[in-house]
Amino acid sequence: MSDNIIDTSKPSAGRIYDYLLNGSHNFEIDRQAAEQIIAASPYVKKLARLQRWALKDIAVELSVNRGLDVIIDFASGLPTADHIHTNVPKGTTVIYSDFDPVVVEFSQQILKDTPDVYYFENDACLPEKLLNRPEVQKILAGRRKVGIGYWGFCTFLNDEELSHSLRVLYEWSAPGSCLAYNAQSVLDITKPDIIAAMEIYKNMGAPFHVRSLEKHQEILNPWKMDETGFVSLLNWHGFDESEFAELDENSFGPTKGDYGVYMTR
Ligand SMILES: C[S@@+](CC[C@H](N)C(=O)[O-])C[C@H]1O[C@@H](n2cnc3c(N)ncnc32)[C@H](O)[C@@H]1O
Repeated sequence: MSDNIIDTSKPSAGRIYDYLLNGSHNFEIDRQAAEQIIAASPYVKKLARLQRWALKDIAVELSVNRGLDVIIDFASGLPTADHIHTNVPKGTTVIYSDFDPVVVEFSQQILKDTPDVYYFENDACLPEKLLNRPEVQKILAGRRKVGIGYWGFCTFLNDEELSHSLRVLYEWSAPGSCLAYNAQSVLDITKPDIIAAMEIYKNMGAPFHVRSLEKHQEILNPWKMDETGFVSLLNWHGFDESEFAELDENSFGPTKGDYGVYMTR
């Protein structure tokens, strides 16, 4: 890793998430922030696992069930622990991206020698920058009917950034494309543990944007919602209820956490 991209004075959301998933790609400053978050909201480790777990199903749904042979994933974090490329048929092209240069460099090291899997630095607010990169255009070779991973990060984008990004993807992609969208932070912000965890992310320069499901749906327009609609991650395929018995219902509401939905073009 080149020294010039490491800023160990500031924690990063991607590396904190890695720590919450028991990963090893994080620094002391990330571990300290993560432990503060865990102290405020002890269930966050389970929520992180729940969120990452869903990617396995998304990978199969987009590639096998919907027959899409390219998946473009935004704000991917580290491609460890059940990420998309480990669950798609051989020959599927997976293009990951993240805006954290340290996460990008770690990820490129993890993925080197993995055929058909790529990792680029990109801000998910501006997907056009990723799509217009000459390397990406070469990989895509004109293919625009794609699966899109939009998972685990929309809480970090404000309404304007989120609508712009989703509209660019809608306009760029061909009919038959499908976007897997994680509707995050449908939270009860009167609860002290939620307030405490949100304060830590805010102090890191990554404030949460809390939204109702109605607001998520409004921002997703003109993407068309799959008939199943928003599904609580607790009802996502493959979920083992016994793993999550200790989740705090009072903080996360009766469905305990975030939602996912498939949006089509
Ligand atoms: C909680 S992790 C989610 C990782 C992965 N998508 C998943 O669901 O397992 C959030 C990631 O979003 C990245 N991130 C946050 N805002 C971003 C942005 N505007 N553009 C690109 N990446 C972003 C962070 O660097 C971090 O790696």
